[in-house]
Amino acid sequence: MKIVVIGSGGREHAICLQLARSARVQQVICCPGNPGTAPLGPRWQDIDPIREPAGFIQRCIDARIDHVVVGPEAPLVAGVADRIREAGIPCFGPGAAAAQLEGSKAHSKDFMHRHQIPTSAYRTIDGVEDLDAALDALPQQVVVKASGLAAGKGVIVCDDRSQAHRAASEMLSGAAFGDSGKTVVIEQRIFGPEVSVLIVVKGTDYLLLPTAQDHKPLLDGNHGPNTGGMGAFCPGTIVGPGELKEIQTQIIEPTLEGLVADGVEYSGILYVGLMMTDSGPRVLEYNCRLGDPETQPVLMRMKSDFVEILEATAGDGPSAVSVEWDSRTALCLVLASDGYPTSPAKGQVIEGEIYSSVDDDIQVFHAGTADGDAGSCLVSGGRVLGVTALADSLEEARKQAYERASRIQFDGKFCRGDIGTYQEIHDKSETLEQQ
Ligand code: GLY
Repeated sequence: MKIVVIGSGGREHAICLQLARSARVQQVICCPGNPGTAPLGPRWQDIDPIREPAGFIQRCIDARIDHVVVGPEAPLVAGVADRIREAGIPCFGPGAAAAQLEGSKAHSKDFMHRHQIPTSAYRTIDGVEDLDAALDALPQQVVVKASGLAAGKGVIVCDDRSQAHRAASEMLSGAAFGDSGKTVVIEQRIFGPEVSVLIVVKGTDYLLLPTAQDHKPLLDGNHGPNTGGMGAFCPGTIVGPGELKEIQTQIIEPTLEGLVADGVEYSGILYVGLMMTDSGPRVLEYNCRLGDPETQPVLMRMKSDFVEILEATAGDGPSAVSVEWDSRTALCLVLASDGYPTSPAKGQVIEGEIYSSVDDDIQVFHAGTADGDAGSCLVSGGRVLGVTALADSLEEARKQAYERASRIQFDGKFCRGDIGTYQEIHDKSETLEQQ
């Protein structure tokens, strides 16, 4: 098979690696890919599937591509998967209508409310004139979210009303996140550890992947602004089998049934971001694609052929696939560039051991990297590399990832020091007010 993976981040590098390991895959093309995907297969850097969907599809037809995997949310929300499927090419990823679960947080909260999916109380506003009334209707501590796509950065966790007022005003003016912030969702802040539940979906048929735990805040101890994720490990440690069953029956199944009831066809990944509160699991967000960096440790543990999952999702449904998972733990440590998440430094030369062999148990996934002169590799984004180790225990995976990361250098390199160890101390003082 010849497979194209759309995207250029660490998640797409991990998908390309998993496909390159398949005996059935003759070629993996990454569009546009990054220097880390280059050893795995060609890169299509001269075509943008969002801006030129017709040209991209013609390229796939000419190259006799068997399947396309869409990694990031932006092309999914733009309807790229719809266009590819309409052209008769199997594609892994939901269409534009389904991707609205991530593309519009206002839509996704309304969806949860309509289908009684457990989540926190909220208000949606389009103008600053409605801000005070929205804050009056919610508890003192809230989370302010840009409704549109903001690369994981449009979520501001607020300690008090004045912080919430400022965050929402900046979003509504367009200053913080452009058009993505012109509609704002304000939610009651809830407390508890977070877990990422990824499922492969076709309609109401689904395949549960092992849970993962991300570390979204920038700094140790979960301080600082939210980021796209500073590190993740799999399997997660906070959701036991009983809680997982509860998540399936109270959240996943009603979500899939709700989509069907709304007339939305969902096929591809559904990422359910959950907070495990004292009152049970609550949905923080839906994403319409694999998590980044969660994908890196999740796929490191997948021993079965990822192609089977792609084919089943395009066919009768993924639940029929019996996936074998490595019993070991994988941990991904993100190396970021100074200034991330607002204005990361770029252009620095990266030195050290930044490439791995296909079968290595430690992989350095490239995210924000670009080719420099004479074979050098440069920083080109905020999250630069995801050093991911597969080992017998979480502690050992953590040790190996940090050790390998210490052998990689670039100016302004930083990472959290507590990935895989930080235990959140929860302030559960506020009474949960569930809808
Ligand atoms: N790591 C969080 C996300 O992928 O949205």
